[in-house]
Amino acid sequence: MKFESKTVHAGDRKKAGNYVPVTTPIYTASSYFYDTMDQLDRVFGREEQGPSYARYDNPTVTALQDLVNELEGGHGTLACSSGMMAVHLALLAALVDRPKRVVAGNVLYGATTHMLMTVFGALGVETHFVDVCDLAALEAAVAEHQPGAVVVESVSNPLLRVCAVDKIAAISRHAGAPLIVDNTFATPMLLRPLELGASMVIHSATKYLAGHGDVLGGLIVSDKENFEVLTTLLRTMGPNLGPFEAYLTMRGIKTLALRMEKQCANARKVAAWLAAHPRVECVYFPGDPNHPDAATVARLYPKDLHGAMVAFDLRGAGKQEVFAFMEKLEMIVCATSLGDVHSMALYPAMSSHRDLSPKHRERIGIRDSLVRLSAGIEAAEDIIADLAQALGG
Ligand SMILES: Cc1ncc(COP(=O)(O)O)c(C=O)c1O
Repeated sequence: MKFESKTVHAGDRKKAGNYVPVTTPIYTASSYFYDTMDQLDRVFGREEQGPSYARYDNPTVTALQDLVNELEGGHGTLACSSGMMAVHLALLAALVDRPKRVVAGNVLYGATTHMLMTVFGALGVETHFVDVCDLAALEAAVAEHQPGAVVVESVSNPLLRVCAVDKIAAISRHAGAPLIVDNTFATPMLLRPLELGASMVIHSATKYLAGHGDVLGGLIVSDKENFEVLTTLLRTMGPNLGPFEAYLTMRGIKTLALRMEKQCANARKVAAWLAAHPRVECVYFPGDPNHPDAATVARLYPKDLHGAMVAFDLRGAGKQEVFAFMEKLEMIVCATSLGDVHSMALYPAMSSHRDLSPKHRERIGIRDSLVRLSAGIEAAEDIIADLAQALGG
């Protein structure tokens, strides 16, 4: 089946008794019983599939996990309460039996960097940050630190650098370190990191997968090697996704292919328009032929699907000028998130990368003039018209 067919069929329409619901309902039960105690025993022992207790399994959540597993090509998928919980769980799973050292991209979602430095740092895990688009630097860092995990974002937040997941996977495997790829910005429609050798894929389901601004959720898609330990951690710690959120995410995914196609096309038009505007100093868009990772994009991404995120620096602007611009936006929503059906603008220094010090932000290229835009499914002309009136001139 093609990707868009899987989005509407995988995971759904499982037989329940003597009927089949066309969409998976929301199961709210916290526990389940069977005809015999022997059967319940087998379910608890995972010799037979089925729900037993909500921290272990829930039929709505299982349907979502099966769907995403099919889309990403994983061995197994687990849903959890947020994207950050998915990052946390994947790191824990990787480090349980491995050296407590991480090599990570130097430009990640701010909370991921913060989690590595503070939460894992406090537990004695050393993290070494490196430019993962510089393969020689990455290879040297992996050789020097012999990490227990390598962490990258396939498309980085917010500067939209695109790393060579296949080559990074080969370097990580050679060193015996699982590669964890946050694939939130790319979605499995654009890139499937497990097919390129990654060990675990993370999603903030809050973003493109759910897509309508009404869910907080995360997903970890795993290879065979890491799935057992992930499952044990989830069952022990209880960071599960609720059934209502699973239902909404599954409903969102049914239109993922349609939404992504439109959003990617809108982002391309907006990026081209911004690049020609005198108040815009610099545009970051992976579909730009002059993008620093254009060769990787051409090699790994589908033609014309280069993501729906655009970032740009307002010429000579600081926080005040950026705020004035954002307050003038009328249709584009100035709120913290991305990937929704409505276009959104965000100021990284205030929200996604707030936890980093100003010096740290400057070092990784996140200037006070930077705005991040998530293109929605509106008419491109309306997005551009809103930007035009807010920019003036
Ligand atoms: C790339 C990326 N990863 C992870 C997260 C965290 O996801 P959540 O907010 O669902 O915890 C975000 C949130 O913006 C993100 O942009």
